[in-house]
Amino acid sequence: MLLLNREDIEKIFTMKDAIKADKLAYSIFSKGKSISPLRTNFASENANGNILFMPGYVGDIGVAGLKIVSVFPDNTKQNLPVTPGTVLLVDDKTGVVNCILDGTYVTEIRTGAASGSAIDLLARKGSETAALIGTGGQAESQFDAIVAGCDTVKVVKVHSRTQAKREAFAKKMQDKYSGKIKVIASNSADEAVLDSDIVVLVTTSTKAIINGDNLKKGALVCGVGSYMPTMHEIDEKTLMKADKIYFDSKEAVLSEAGCIITPLKEGKISEADFTGDLGDMINGKIISRENDDEIIVFKSVGISTQDVVTGKAIYDKAKEEKVGYEF
Ligand SMILES: NC(=O)c1ccc[n+]([C@@H]2O[C@H](COP(=O)([O-])OP(=O)(O)OC[C@H]3O[C@@H](n4cnc5c(N)ncnc54)[C@H](O)[C@@H]3O)[C@@H](O)[C@H]2O)c1
Repeated sequence: MLLLNREDIEKIFTMKDAIKADKLAYSIFSKGKSISPLRTNFASENANGNILFMPGYVGDIGVAGLKIVSVFPDNTKQNLPVTPGTVLLVDDKTGVVNCILDGTYVTEIRTGAASGSAIDLLARKGSETAALIGTGGQAESQFDAIVAGCDTVKVVKVHSRTQAKREAFAKKMQDKYSGKIKVIASNSADEAVLDSDIVVLVTTSTKAIINGDNLKKGALVCGVGSYMPTMHEIDEKTLMKADKIYFDSKEAVLSEAGCIITPLKEGKISEADFTGDLGDMINGKIISRENDDEIIVFKSVGISTQDVVTGKAIYDKAKEEKVGYEF
C-alpha cells in the first residue's frame, strides 16, 4: 500500500493534471458510469464534530474509493485542522486498499480543478483579469486553477473581509507567481469584480457577495463555497442575467446550494435557465459558450467521483515517479 502525503502529491501532481482528472470525472459522472452513494454522517458523542464517510466507485478506471472527512470546529484550540480528510483507494480486481492519500489536499486540488475545468472550457478566450473572493483554506488552489485554466490571465484581484488576511494572501500569491501574474488585494468584492473576465467565489457567506450589475460582458462566474440552503454567494441579478448556467451536478446543487435553491423557489429563475452539467458539455451533449458576450455561471458543490478519479490519477503518477512511502 502506498502512502502519499501533501508534499508527495505537490511534487508530482500539478493543477493542470487535476483539471484533466476533474474533466474525466465529470464526463464519467454524466455518462452515469460512477456510483456515489449518499455519505454516512456520524455526529461525535464525545466532541462537537461530525465524521463523514463518502464512498465512490468508478469501474472504468478500476477503483473504488472512500473519503473520510471530519468537521470539528473546536480543533483550532488544539492546533489541529478543522476539516481533516483522508482518501483510500481500493483496487477493484483484488479488493486490496492500494493507496492512502492526504484527503485534505486531494479536496483542495480537485475543488480548485472544478473551477479550473470551467475556466478552461467556458471562460472567454483571451481573458486577462480575474477576481477571487474568499482567502480561506480553499483559496490557494482556486488561485492556482485560475492561472492553470487560462494562460492569458495577467491580473488577479483578491478580496476577503479582513484587510490583514486579504493582504497576506495577496502577498503569498504574488510571491508564488512573481513575474507572471499581478496580484491586487481589493478592498471590496465590487472593486474586485469590476472589469474581471473570471470571478471565483470561495467563501462561507450566508448572503450574496457580488452584484450582477458590476459584471463585465462575457464574464464567467464560478461559485464554489455555498453548499447548504442557508449559504449564498452568487446574487440573483447575476443568475437572472446569465446566458448559461452550468453545474457539476444539477441534482446535488439543487439539494444543497442556497444561492441557486432560493431564487429558484422565489421564481426569480426557473429550471429552463439551467443549461446542464459540465460533464454533459464535455461529452458533447449540451452546448458550450456561443460568443464572447455571454455571461456564464458554473456552480459546484463537489461530487465523490472527483475524489476517486483524482486520487487514482495521483496514485498512477506516484507509482510512475516512485514517490511516496510503501507500507
Ligand atoms: N464546491 C466544492 O467542491 C467545495 C469543496 C470544498 C469546500 N467547499 C466550500 O468552500 C467554502 C470555503 O472553504 P474554505 O475552506 O476556504 O473556508 P474558510 O473558512 O477557510 O474560508 C472562508 C472564506 O470566506 C470568506 N467570507 C465569508 N463570508 C464572506 C463574505 N460575506 N464576504 C467575503 N468573504 C467572506 C472568509 O473571509 C474566508 O476568507 C466552504 O463553504 C466549503 O464548504 C466547496
